[in-house]
Amino acid sequence: MNIKNFENFKQFVNERGNKRCIIRCDLNLPSDIEDLSRVYAVKDTILSVASMGLQVILISHYKRPKPEDVDNPKFSLKQIVPSVSKVLGRDVAFEKRSIFDIEPSEITAAITLLENLRFYEGETKNDDALAQRLAQFGDVYINDAFSVSHRAHASVCAITKHLPSFAGLSMMREIEGITKATENIERPYTAIIGGAKVSTKIDVLKKLSLEADYLVIAGAMANTFLAAQGHDMKKSLIEPEQFETAREIMANAEAELILPTDFVVSPNVETDGVQCDLADIPDDCGCFDIGGKSTARITDVIDKSRTLLWNGTLGLFECANFQYSSEIVSKHVAECTQNAGLVSITGGGETIASLGEYKSDMTFVSTAGGAFLEYIAGYDLPGVMALQ
Ligand code: 3PG
Repeated sequence: MNIKNFENFKQFVNERGNKRCIIRCDLNLPSDIEDLSRVYAVKDTILSVASMGLQVILISHYKRPKPEDVDNPKFSLKQIVPSVSKVLGRDVAFEKRSIFDIEPSEITAAITLLENLRFYEGETKNDDALAQRLAQFGDVYINDAFSVSHRAHASVCAITKHLPSFAGLSMMREIEGITKATENIERPYTAIIGGAKVSTKIDVLKKLSLEADYLVIAGAMANTFLAAQGHDMKKSLIEPEQFETAREIMANAEAELILPTDFVVSPNVETDGVQCDLADIPDDCGCFDIGGKSTARITDVIDKSRTLLWNGTLGLFECANFQYSSEIVSKHVAECTQNAGLVSITGGGETIASLGEYKSDMTFVSTAGGAFLEYIAGYDLPGVMALQ
């Protein structure tokens, strides 16, 4: 792929003498989980640009606020500043004010993070006026946020029309790593797709159900598949509007589909769960994790596999009561990767967090969730295309 990369950036800046670099990061860290992978991912780019003597303007989105949430601290990037500063080992200034209310010359610190881009209505609309204003805060632009490059947003796409634009080191690492890990897949090839919603992963589920040897469906999305087969999932989260899609995937799959057969159930997330079979889910309970038999089935399939692709958590990992399957499967994947030659490719903010201490034992870990899946499903990512 012919992308203007970080080497091109350095050459360009050496020739043109640029002064202020806007770096699009993805500081949309997973909720309630201390996982700073996305901050570590952009560290090299930020420090390299700063060491070249350029002033650094960091931009990012955080969650999905509405413009009226602008004063809600829950959505402010200010809360991320101490973590960014700690990871970089540098002071990071924060600019809360709207970019339409300040002049670019008012930003004077060596490294400044601007407030959450999604407070601007134009961000998700790829609005050119917003991109043009944002571009005035720098004279060169780097996209180092592969994980948001599946979004045609103003800070990812439209801005590249207004500034010389390059890929950062993390962006290149992600593209090269995923491409290398997925281009000559050794079989048996297993995919584990978890997480809450079928609706966000339809294309990749369809593709993997045709291409993989085993497709494990876990997380709350498994409830939708089981309900589509006619099982009563009681109080579990399901998406009835996805029943048809789930049935279509199950009917056309060439991979062996593996759905959970037992669960950790509970009346609510605050209460410790108990294990039970699919047919025995109590009326007042929902499924928040998969049970011991299903977990063992997954580890058996991993033992047979040469390549594993994993996106999405197996249970409601963010609650301590429902981390059972994630811990066992993460440990098993790590052991097989280190000792049995398994190629393990994982991605997604929550998925990475669920790997915990085993993260560093995987073959490749992408910081991206949706972008990782779209890239694997074969789509061109607008943010990557904009750098070509
Ligand atoms: C992600 O977490 O996948 C990216 O930050 C994109 O966030 P979004 O799904 O809210 O666009």
